[in-house]
Amino acid sequence: MIVEPKVREFICTTAHPEGCRENVKRQIAYVKEKGQVCGPKKMLVIGASTGYGLASRITAAFACQAATIGIMFEKPSNGKRTATPGWYNTAAFEALAQEEGLYAKSINGDAFSAEVKQQAIEMIKEDLGQVDMVIYSLAAPRRTTADNKTWSSTLKTTTGAFTEKSLDLRNNTIVTKTVESANDEELEGTIKVMGGEDWMDWMDALTNAGVLAENAVTVAYSYIGPELTYPIYTEGTIGQAKKHLTETAGRIREKHPGIQAYISVNKALVTQASAAIPIVPLYFAILYKVMKEQGTHEGCIEQISRLFHDKLFAGEIPMDEQGRIRMDDWELAPQVQDAVMDCWKEVDTENVKKLSDIEGYWEDFYHMFGFHFDNVDYSRDVDIQVEIPSL
Ligand code: NAI
Repeated sequence: MIVEPKVREFICTTAHPEGCRENVKRQIAYVKEKGQVCGPKKMLVIGASTGYGLASRITAAFACQAATIGIMFEKPSNGKRTATPGWYNTAAFEALAQEEGLYAKSINGDAFSAEVKQQAIEMIKEDLGQVDMVIYSLAAPRRTTADNKTWSSTLKTTTGAFTEKSLDLRNNTIVTKTVESANDEELEGTIKVMGGEDWMDWMDALTNAGVLAENAVTVAYSYIGPELTYPIYTEGTIGQAKKHLTETAGRIREKHPGIQAYISVNKALVTQASAAIPIVPLYFAILYKVMKEQGTHEGCIEQISRLFHDKLFAGEIPMDEQGRIRMDDWELAPQVQDAVMDCWKEVDTENVKKLSDIEGYWEDFYHMFGFHFDNVDYSRDVDIQVEIPSL
């Protein structure tokens, strides 16, 4: 089949298997170029198929020679529709890891469920004995809890309606967008889905099963961003969930003193999860321009590689006053934010191409789905039914 991108606002409903493989290959090449780190040897990644989780898996495997088990929620191709990008990424990752003799297996299922937790425990017991690192990198729209109740995550404010400039992704125009305030149920749902409860459940389950090594490290990812987006992010429903996630790191350390639990606050990047947040994509596009000009722009793999090399495994871990690792240090640097705010004030439909890196935004977007790689021949027929070796 010849696979073309089918974009609907912030989602692409097709993915290119060879392009996704190219995406994974480029990330591996970057990690190898950066050299080895004395990091984890056996790692579980929850949310391993795209974005920050995939970058974490690639870094552990190719910079630390770690055996990895990855958990994801992806769809294979049914022969007519392509698989989701995370499916193709994982197929490529496993094949490329195995070529180098690295253990890599994956579980495709709902990480929130007790069944998937049990499956992961069995796999660790049988194949690895224990894991010494767990990355928690889920971005999910909903979660069904043990009482069979399904909670939904909402991207709303908590302090009244908020109106700001926004990029209309359908036609690259600047519009004004109002985000409404969440009700109590929506706020509670977002905390249930994106807060730390499930991270704690994982740590409890892994500890009780004896599959966590002594002094195992676990890291969950968070975001803060600039004041401009506080109403929709940090002070919004998602920010409240992230607050809960951050508090959970402390709770895990208290409950399980043998676990080193950390929050890493990462940089704003185009991923399937973040493209869906209103107002934020315009900030991303401006941020990309400023950081590229200043030579500090990073993608997921650059962020996670730096997390491993400079923060997590370089001696004492540098943390802020709330005990968080700050990978958003370059994003929030005053010279970056001042320039972003200058552009933000001025940006409109006429000057958006000049004041923002809208092309870079879209380039990252297409790359996520395996499109727009100059060394992939998109006119060629490709087999869309790709198998993941371990599944
Ligand atoms: P993403 O959408 O690229 O990745 C989400 C991952 O979770 C995928 O592997 C997906 O398969 C998996 N997943 C979703 N629901 C699942 C379920 N029920 N069971 C098993 N796996 C499931 O998202 P991204 O952006 O990499 O986000 C990961 C974490 O990083 C999130 O906590 C997010 O808030 C955080 N973060 C993201 C930033 C960004 O700008 N993208 C910035 C800072 C933090």
